Amino acid sequence: MATSVLTLALLSLYFVFSPASAADRITANSSIADGQTLVSAGGVFELGFFTPPTSTARFLGIWYKDIAPLTVVWVANRQAPIIGTTASLVINSTGSLVLADRSGHMFWSPAPSNVTSSTPVAQLLDSGNFLIVDANGTGAVLWQSFDHPSDTLLPGMKLGWELTTGLDRYLTTWASPADPSPGDYRFEIDIRGVPEGFIWYNGTLPVYRNGPWNGLRFSGEPEMEPDNGNFLFEFVANSTDVYYTFLVDGGGGGDVISRFVLNQSTLQRYVWLQQQQAWNLYWSLPRDQCDRYAECGAYGVCDASASPMCGCPTGFTPASPREWALRDGSAGCARTTRLNCTGDGFLALPGVKLPDVTNATADASVSLDQCRQRCLANCSCLAYSASSIKGGESGCIIWTSPLIDIRQFESGGQNLFIRLAASDLPSNGDNSKKKNTALAVVLSLLGLLLFGLGGFFIWTKFFRNKGRFQSTRRLTSFDSSNPLYPVQDRNTEEESSQSNGLVDVTLFDMATIALSTDNFATSAKLGEGGFGAVYKGELGGGQTVAVKRLSKYSTQGLDEFKNEVMLIAKLQHVNLVRLLGCCVHGEERILVYEYMENKSLDTFIFDKARSAQLNWSKRFDIILGVARGLLYLHQDSRFKVIHRDLKAGNILLDGEMNPKISDFGVARIFGADGADSHTKRVVGTYGYMSPEYAMDGVFSVKSDVFSFGVLVLEIVSGRKNRGMYSSGEQTSLLSHVRHYSQIIHCSCSILESQENAGN
Ligand SMILES: *[C@@H]1O[C@H](CO)[C@@H](O)[C@H](O)[C@H]1NC(C)=O
Ligand SMILES: *[C@@H]1O[C@H](CO)[C@@H](O)[C@H](O)[C@H]1NC(C)=O
Ligand SMILES: *[C@@H]1O[C@H](CO)[C@@H](O)[C@H](O)[C@H]1NC(C)=O
Ligand SMILES: *[C@@H]1O[C@H](CO)[C@@H](O)[C@H](O)[C@H]1NC(C)=O
Ligand SMILES: *[C@@H]1O[C@H](CO)[C@@H](O)[C@H](O)[C@H]1NC(C)=O
Ligand SMILES: *[C@@H]1O[C@H](CO)[C@@H](O)[C@H](O)[C@H]1NC(C)=O
Ligand SMILES: *[C@@H]1O[C@H](CO)[C@@H](O)[C@H](O)[C@H]1NC(C)=O
Ligand SMILES: *[C@@H]1O[C@H](CO)[C@@H](O)[C@H](O)[C@H]1NC(C)=O
Ligand SMILES: *[C@@H]1O[C@H](CO)[C@@H](O)[C@H](O)[C@H]1NC(C)=O
Ligand SMILES: *[C@@H]1O[C@H](CO)[C@@H](O)[C@H](O)[C@H]1NC(C)=O
Repeated sequence: MATSVLTLALLSLYFVFSPASAADRITANSSIADGQTLVSAGGVFELGFFTPPTSTARFLGIWYKDIAPLTVVWVANRQAPIIGTTASLVINSTGSLVLADRSGHMFWSPAPSNVTSSTPVAQLLDSGNFLIVDANGTGAVLWQSFDHPSDTLLPGMKLGWELTTGLDRYLTTWASPADPSPGDYRFEIDIRGVPEGFIWYNGTLPVYRNGPWNGLRFSGEPEMEPDNGNFLFEFVANSTDVYYTFLVDGGGGGDVISRFVLNQSTLQRYVWLQQQQAWNLYWSLPRDQCDRYAECGAYGVCDASASPMCGCPTGFTPASPREWALRDGSAGCARTTRLNCTGDGFLALPGVKLPDVTNATADASVSLDQCRQRCLANCSCLAYSASSIKGGESGCIIWTSPLIDIRQFESGGQNLFIRLAASDLPSNGDNSKKKNTALAVVLSLLGLLLFGLGGFFIWTKFFRNKGRFQSTRRLTSFDSSNPLYPVQDRNTEEESSQSNGLVDVTLFDMATIALSTDNFATSAKLGEGGFGAVYKGELGGGQTVAVKRLSKYSTQGLDEFKNEVMLIAKLQHVNLVRLLGCCVHGEERILVYEYMENKSLDTFIFDKARSAQLNWSKRFDIILGVARGLLYLHQDSRFKVIHRDLKAGNILLDGEMNPKISDFGVARIFGADGADSHTKRVVGTYGYMSPEYAMDGVFSVKSDVFSFGVLVLEIVSGRKNRGMYSSGEQTSLLSHVRHYSQIIHCSCSILESQENAGN
């Protein structure tokens, strides 16, 4: 026992770090050496030296401070890897920021700027921008990392041009995950003709094109919602600036974390899921073959839902029928009749991505009708469209070279008007109009029929549910003075007493829950778990409870959910938090637990002041208690429950500091029971997940045991296990332990022998 306590003491000694500099700026004569970092004022971003996975070189970069695995958003010395750890970032005596090693070899320095200052200060901001400002007087910006992006666009960063200076900001992909030097792909705003974004291969070959901005979005990205609450997209094109930028939370500066990355040939938008502690791929491009630049050649229209995908508009035929038949559309389409300047007309192609605009011209000041006149009057005009669809079609884009890279969208596309010889135009449209009317009538009849069936279905479902589950009271009386008592559902009570006396779970009324938590007020929020937010609630009798609002991922139906809750309520153990009841309302699934005075374990062990309250014997008791609870879940209960998200935040402490596992069985509710050992949706927390679970989604009781091991190390060392198992660096607790276990083993043997000698 003495030895093990010594081991622990030694272990914790090894975790005492040299205090990293928590400053956010470098001033004259101060520096950042390898191992030290700058942290932005609000603790959002960190700047320092890192090694990419599978590499040995060191790079100066910026990453999210509190996100594991290490997510680098900017790299300074992309093409000049540093070997060894002797480099540092300094402002030298002549006022330049330089990244150099002891021998004076320079790896990187920002391009000299027009503005000079005798008192430059380099500062890392919470936006992720690293800038050099004149500390004296004006505060003029001498240089900023936002003007020199790597592969990532952060909120507020501009992608595009400052026309007055010729500054072009574009993304270049990393050569590989181990090598941040510029790779083969680049995403750039092309300002020839009408501005639009291109992914270029090797600087010259277009791979993807997102189309001109149409007032709401890029023409090739119909899924870009102008106002979705989480993002605000902006495009500016005037005589001084042409750029794209985005803001999160509609610019409100809330807690959405998002980055936009060029990842080889794909553009990806990631959002950070706080609950799962993982990046979620929110959106990515290209979507399909139709997004490949000029897939169907000149005048060809690509439709991903058609077969073959390439088609020719009315008045055109495949230019190379042989290749076309072999599904190679790259030769495009040719006109059946040559244009005859005077007698031409227009064919409308609705719902498309506008063709390449590098040779087109735009004029926002005219109406669509004037645009048509302009096009008709100019024999070299081949097509026209509105330049903006914000609040109706207006403005004018005119094409004078062949139309390349048109694709058909199912929704969200725009109208394109292609010039056709009069003889090729569809005859007046009378016939087609009649056909369309007939079709419309048939369709609406069908719709009515479906609507009726749907209504019947909903009606039956509603009444069935109403009979069984009585939580349909509307959420209208938040401020009513109704006393708050749990509403017991009589039907359920009867049901449960009939069916071999399953536990009585209280079914709470939504209004009760909402009222008890002050309508889920932020002030009542206790924390955020792996499966949803937890609120403190006050019930009628003065009873304090914890209310867990499950996030909306569950695929379960009402009955399955209820069954699960009843099963879980049957799990009772001194080291498990007791489930008191639940509530179902529409999409909402809520669990009500007993309230734990001392909150969760992480608030103690990771807090300098509070951790003093936990002496070794208390810590030992906590470990033992958690082990007992886990053993019960895995072995001694009626059915095997795998927790899947065991962590310090899920161990709650009661008034006497007895540990109780919470969130157990929630994994079951999320639709994955113990029998199914493979899951697509990896829930849990990085740092606690076993490698096989995090990587392949394979989980078993062993996954919990792994998490338990991490937890024990954390309780003993008082340090958080950040980072992932795969991180090559010694950034996580686990890798530290692995690294030092050898040394500790030796020192312990020595100490032990000394101890024995002393005795
Ligand atoms: C920086 O160092 C130089 C030379 O060592 C010295 O002359 C200068 O006063 C220092 N500046 C500051 C702000 O400490
Ligand atoms: C400071 O760094 C700049 C940029 O690399 C360099 O031109 C200048 O000579 C350096 N000054 C000194 C005193 O080394
Ligand atoms: C700051 O600027 C003022 C005048 O604008 C000048 O007198 C002063 O010396 C400057 N201070 C430094 C440290 O350069
Ligand atoms: C840089 O300075 C030169 C000369 O003073 C000036 O002509 C040029 O416009 C400046 N460039 C910028 C970007 O301010
Ligand atoms: C990339 O472009 C360069 C010239 O710009 C050319 O020499 C090289 O072969 C190209 N590489 C590929 C893979 O196309
Ligand atoms: C162009 O737009 C930018 C951003 O909205 C603005 O700061 C700038 O003043 C504009 N320039 C002109 C000439 O309107
Ligand atoms: C690039 O994409 C791959 C898979 O799509 C992903 O695993 C990786 O994290 C992405 N890289 C970055 C920098 O986001
Ligand atoms: C163009 O078409 C009009 C009417 O279809 C015809 O009268 C005229 O001769 C044609 N012009 C040429 C150059 O073909
Ligand atoms: C634009 O015009 C140039 C020169 O006429 C031509 O080579 C190029 O293919 C055109 N690009 C498009 C997309 O039409
Ligand atoms: C027709 O349009 C082209 C391109 O916009 C332009 O260069 C040309 O001057 C126009 N011709 C006439 C007669 O307006």
